[in-house]
Amino acid sequence: MGRANEGDLRDGLSAAELFVPGEGVAYDDFIVLPGHIDFHFQDVELSTRFTRRVPLRLPFVSSPMDTVTEHAMAIGLACLGGLGVLHYNNSVAEQAEEVRKVKRYENGFITRPVVLGPQQKIKDVDEIKARYGFSGIPITEDGTVHGRVIGIVTNRDIEFEPDRERSLSEVMTRDLVTGKAGITLRQAYDLLRSSKKGKIPIVDEAGRLVSLVSRRDMVKRRDYPDATKDSRGQLRVAAAISTRDEDRERASALVEAGVDVIVVDAAQGDSVYELRMLEWLKATYPQVDVMAGNVVTQAQCARLIDAGADGLRIGMGPGSICTTQGTMAVGRAQATAVFQSARLARARGVPLIADGGVAQIGHIAKALALGASSVMMGYMFAGTEESPGEYFYENGVRLKRYRGMASLEAMARGGEKRYVTKADDRKIKVAQGVAGSVLDKGPLETYVPYLVQGLRQSLQDMGVRSLALLHEQLESGALRLERRSHAAQIEGGVHGLYSYTESQLGMRG
Ligand code: IMP
Repeated sequence: MGRANEGDLRDGLSAAELFVPGEGVAYDDFIVLPGHIDFHFQDVELSTRFTRRVPLRLPFVSSPMDTVTEHAMAIGLACLGGLGVLHYNNSVAEQAEEVRKVKRYENGFITRPVVLGPQQKIKDVDEIKARYGFSGIPITEDGTVHGRVIGIVTNRDIEFEPDRERSLSEVMTRDLVTGKAGITLRQAYDLLRSSKKGKIPIVDEAGRLVSLVSRRDMVKRRDYPDATKDSRGQLRVAAAISTRDEDRERASALVEAGVDVIVVDAAQGDSVYELRMLEWLKATYPQVDVMAGNVVTQAQCARLIDAGADGLRIGMGPGSICTTQGTMAVGRAQATAVFQSARLARARGVPLIADGGVAQIGHIAKALALGASSVMMGYMFAGTEESPGEYFYENGVRLKRYRGMASLEAMARGGEKRYVTKADDRKIKVAQGVAGSVLDKGPLETYVPYLVQGLRQSLQDMGVRSLALLHEQLESGALRLERRSHAAQIEGGVHGLYSYTESQLGMRG
């Protein structure tokens, strides 16, 4: 028998064949068939675009939610090649200040260092060392992060001390080298070099701690080669606003503060309110890209593109904290929404972000395979060190709060702007989300590389070396997919074991 030609051996379906009219498909309802591997996963290229004029090295974007994205998340993600969208459940001045914090950020200043108070014990340092792997800790008078600095405890102060109950005031180094608030990173690093210290606290005029610089950072991560930066070398940041006319003032403050992209945030983005806002933004600030949404059908996408959208945000109801589809009877299964919207957006040259419903690396890969240029995640980034809120313990498990912006709790603080279009519609609140908690996922510095490697390996299994090629294969039908029956989905998950340990980092599925 001669060699069969590739076409005869084609198995499964193209995406266009899989997504039949009248049926909503979720990420878990289908699987991507493997391709041929002739490259290493490290060579998989994940560069993409968030909006028309904003490129990204990684397709990861954090949701504008008050338990997900403030400046720490936006800085952390932008340093690594993704992007954060700042939430607007705050005053105009507060949100603009968040933008400024990201734009002013110079990699290397640790703005929320771990600190201890003088009454705390050597064993507290031991605990921090065990958890974070470092031991140079500023001691502030009252033990708070912006308290007056009175000393520093380093390994050398405590390594030969047998009594771990001794208080830090007895062992700390009081003879301090500090830097003045406002010095540049270069000056701070010069100080590290000339003083030969491991860590130097940066303090304000009253001696209060502003930040910390560390020798280890200077050596190890002076540069983030993949950082999402603007033409001036500052980190990029996006920020969300509502569709209400009053938020024109918010938009102006954000632009003034240097925001790179404005995300017009509405649960149902196909409204005259959103179109009006979009047209006003494009006419007033043509230099700023605008991401519009949320929408899930081609007709909706077309209207937003016609009004000037530079990017589309796709998803209605798939979010982990979301009850929209149950309450409103409106929405769309997310895989279908992404595929159908992407068909139109691709033809019009507008990038699209798949928003919500991502609970594991495979969902990211599937969203991209269906035509999304990037993926927006709330659940996946909630519970990282950079998400707002403090950790707490429940039954010995370390957790953080995560809530929908239309949960009653978040609406009480203004989150309903995304869901009701006029301020006087607020009297009766119909929740479209819940408030809960998620597992600790650690710092972005370790979590994002884990996501990146997982995604690269996923694309390698598909036999595709880049996101650009993935979209080409989607378009040509070379990418082969298959529906999974209910039994196939059970078969594809963990089953039959008496017990097992959850996958790392709080991933579901
Ligand atoms: P997740 O990544 O599955 O947790 O979904 C996050 C997305 O859910 C956000 O980016 C929003 O689009 C959406 N979302 C945020 N808050 C709510 C809510 O209260 N109800 C419904 N959807 C929400």
